[in-house]
Order: sequence, then C-alpha cells, then structure tokens
Amino acid sequence: MGRLLITGGTGYIGSHAAVVLSKIGHDVVLYDNLSNSSRCVLENLNLIVGRQIPFVKGDVRDTELLISTLSAQGIDAVIHFAGLKAVGESVEQPVKYYGNNVQGSISLLQAMQAVQVKTLVFSSSATVYGEPQYLPLDERHPIRATNPYGRSKLYVEQMLSDVVSADAAWRIACLRYFNPVGAHESGLIGERPNGVPNNLMPYIIQVAAGQRPYLNVFGNDYSSTDGTGVRDYIHVMDLADGHAAALDFLDKTSGWHAINLGTGKGYSVLEVIKACEKATGRKVPYKIAARRAGDVAACYADPAKASERLNWTAKRSLDDMCHSSWRFQQKNRLRVTP
Ligand code: NAD
Ligand code: WQD
Repeated sequence: MGRLLITGGTGYIGSHAAVVLSKIGHDVVLYDNLSNSSRCVLENLNLIVGRQIPFVKGDVRDTELLISTLSAQGIDAVIHFAGLKAVGESVEQPVKYYGNNVQGSISLLQAMQAVQVKTLVFSSSATVYGEPQYLPLDERHPIRATNPYGRSKLYVEQMLSDVVSADAAWRIACLRYFNPVGAHESGLIGERPNGVPNNLMPYIIQVAAGQRPYLNVFGNDYSSTDGTGVRDYIHVMDLADGHAAALDFLDKTSGWHAINLGTGKGYSVLEVIKACEKATGRKVPYKIAARRAGDVAACYADPAKASERLNWTAKRSLDDMCHSSWRFQQKNRLRVTP
C-alpha cells in the first residue's frame, strides 16, 4: 500500500474513493481547491475513517504547490479527480473547461515528472465515446466526444498515451465512468449539486423530498422499452472500489490503459423514477418534456475489460443506489437553491 495523492479529493467521487482506499490501508492525502466542495466533507471523511486525513487546499494548476506536496508527502501514486464536469456549462464556457481540465492535467503531469512519480489513475468519462455506434460500449468503440467537456477528457487521455509512449516507466489507467450515483452507507458523504441539479438522480431525490414540484422527463420518444433515455447507473462505492482495483493493477502493469467502469446494465428514466419511489416511499411526479440537446438515446457499458484486467465488477443494485441517495438527503436535509 502506498501514499496516494487524491486531487479533487473532497469532491463527490474523490471523497468516496478516499474512504475506500483509506479503509484498505492506503495513506491518502487530499488536494482540492474547494471550488465545488467544502471542508465539511473533510470533517465527515475523518469521522468515517476514524482519523485525520491530510488535506492540502490547492489548485492543480499551481504546479509548484503540487511539486512541494508530492515531495513533502512522499507520494507514490496519484488519482486525478479534480476537474469540471458539467456538459452544458462546457458548451457555454469552453475555455474554463480546457483551462481547468486540460491545463490542470498538464500541470499535474509536470509536477509528477519533476518528482519522478509515474503512477496515475485518471477520471475519464463515457462521454468520450460520443453518440454510441453500437451497444454495449466497449473500449474499442470509436472515440468522438461531441462537447468541450468530453473533448477535455479525450485530450487528456491522448496526452497520457503520449507520456507513456515517451517513457515506458509510466503506469496510467484512464477510467471511463458511466453514470455515478448514490452515497456512502453512513449518509455522511454524497452528491451535493450546486444550484439546480443537471443530473437525474439528485433531481429525483429533491422531488421526492418535496423540494421541487416535479421532474421533467427529457423525451419519451426514444427507441427504448418505455421511450425514455437509458443509462448505466453505477453506485459511487462500486466506482470507488474500481479505483482500488486499478491501483492494484498498475502495481503489476505499466503502460496506458483505458477501462470502462459501468455495470453493463441500462435503466430508463421511468425505471429510475419507479426505483426511487420504492426506496423513498414517496411519489415522484413528472412531466414529459422535450428531449435535452446533446442527449443520446442509450449509453451503457460492456464491463468485460474491467472484470478481466482489474478483477472488478459492480456489485450494488439500482435499489442500493436509490436508498443510499435518499439516506444522504434525509441525513443532510440538503438545502436547494431554486
Ligand atoms: P465534483 O465536482 O464533486 O469533484 C471535483 C472536485 O475537484 C471538487 O471537490 C472541486 O472542488 C475540485 N476541483 C475542481 N477543479 C479543481 C482545480 N483546478 N484544482 C483543485 N481542485 C479542483 O465532481 P465528481 O462528480 O466527483 O467528478 C470527479 C471527476 O470524475 C471529474 O474529473 C469528472 O469529470 C469525472 N466524472 C464524473 C462523472 C459524474 O457523473 N459525476 C462522470 C464521469 C466522470
Ligand atoms: C440521465 C438521463 C436524461 C435529468 C451526464 C454527463 C456525463 C457524465 C454523467 C461527467 C438522461 C434524463 C436527466 C432530468 C431527465 N458526467 N434526465 N430529467 O446526461 O447521461 O450524463 O452525467 O462525465 O458526461 O453528460 O446523465 O443524469 O444528466 O441524465 O429526464 O432532469 O436522465 O435525458 O436520459 P447523462 P443525466
């Protein structure tokens, strides 16, 4: 077990990864500029793991601070979660996304090179696949992102491939997440969207909690069983376990590897609504609205490579995802901004 730097470590996925990795014996150091999280996440993380997790407040674009942190903390490997992730916002503000996601990754690579740390797990996204040409999506599917956010992920993946081509000592896993949802069983950490949630699960949970009147279902004329969009929802704790598996894999394997982290099962919007109504015991009123620009009809993973190479498969059900999301909501009575 080594000493890990987790950039974006107080964020939604990073904080859950910090719990899993700490619990299995890694020494983790969190690095975050708190632009989309807060110190209260750190307090709750310390409660869950039962000790003080080292935290450095910093921006991944601050290369000098990264160098001093990597060196002072004796870091052996990095998991890079820090970044912006809203597709719609990326279309409106592409420079902000390339500045944060691409420039931030370049800065991290410069710092890692400076201190000769050459093991990296990168948060990529199924968005790099663009409009699926076939389903389920495996890692051989053409890469053709259709928005600045997806392209920022794609560019970083390609940079990382160049880094490995130039120096075979690097060990890099690009983990392509599908749709992470849910929360840690304690209800102490979870997804805290700012403002009106873009994503389905947090929006449904806020409707179930009576904080929003109804859900807009973006289109029911897709070629799915009930006409609504189909996605591969994966429990954030399964996703966190996947990062632990990727680190073990990189312990034994150098090179560049792109690996899907998904369940391989797709659920429609109406199926998710039904599962949430069952988990919460609340009705979730909805209205059929127009399709959302940029949405694809269906997107779900072929998780075979993760199973074969990482010895990892998702274990938790859609019900687990809904129950844990609701528990986090109830425990935190998340305030919403209209
Ligand atoms: P999040 O916003 O909850 O976490 C990101 C964290 O990074 C936040 O704590 C934020 O404060 C921090 N951060 C952002 N820019 C930074 C910077 N320049 N320097 C330092 N810290 C910075 O998002 P998340 O859902 O946890 O996503 C984590 C990663 O996973 C992101 O790279 C995202 O693109 C990727 N991803 C997320 C999803 C998803 O649906 N949540 C899906 C696929 C991929
Ligand atoms: C899921 C389904 C919507 C909200 C996004 C990003 C992707 C990744 C994961 C970062 C779709 C429908 C949603 C609502 C709805 N993030 N929906 N009403 O769009 O699959 O993926 O998050 O990497 O890059 O694009 O997730 O949760 O927004 O939508 O009907 O209010 O729910 O149309 O079918 P998506 P989502």
